[in-house]
Amino acid sequence: MNPSKNKEYYEIVKSIIENPEFIKRKTYKHHEDESVYEHSLKVSIISYKIAKLLHLDKESTAIGGLLHDFYYKPWQDNTEKQKFFKQHGFVHARQALENSINYFPYLLNDKTEDIIVKHMFPLNVIPPKYMEGWIVTLVDKIVSLNVLAHPTAWPKYVGIKTKTKKIGS
Ligand SMILES: [Fe+2]
Ligand SMILES: [Fe+2]
Repeated sequence: MNPSKNKEYYEIVKSIIENPEFIKRKTYKHHEDESVYEHSLKVSIISYKIAKLLHLDKESTAIGGLLHDFYYKPWQDNTEKQKFFKQHGFVHARQALENSINYFPYLLNDKTEDIIVKHMFPLNVIPPKYMEGWIVTLVDKIVSLNVLAHPTAWPKYVGIKTKTKKIGS
């Protein structure tokens, strides 16, 4: 997906996609052979188009969609044993919000923050407060249907490791 094809969209998200910290997500693996950067862009563009069609807040949707997985580190690289509820699937939405507040405070509002922190519903049990959040939550899952087609990959999709490697092994 090429964000510069849509001028209106590009203007909304420009400062994020040109930010060196965000660009690092090109090297973070999301699922299969897609990067976190590509995945986030896909979720953001599709969600933005739906929000625009429904005359909702397209700006907050585009920004929330783009930052929904802006967590700190590639989770697959973490070989430390984590308690079940500390695993990626449960904690990364909160991390993405903290990181977004750190890097892009001027782009956030109540809606974008809610989109980011609730996007893992129902794994994170509190549902999105706004329609824009429901859009991002659903689009995030739908674009991962490839993964959902393979039940053995489900734990990996939601960010739960089924086998934990020991450090040094
Ligand atoms: Fe996520
Ligand atoms: Fe995602």
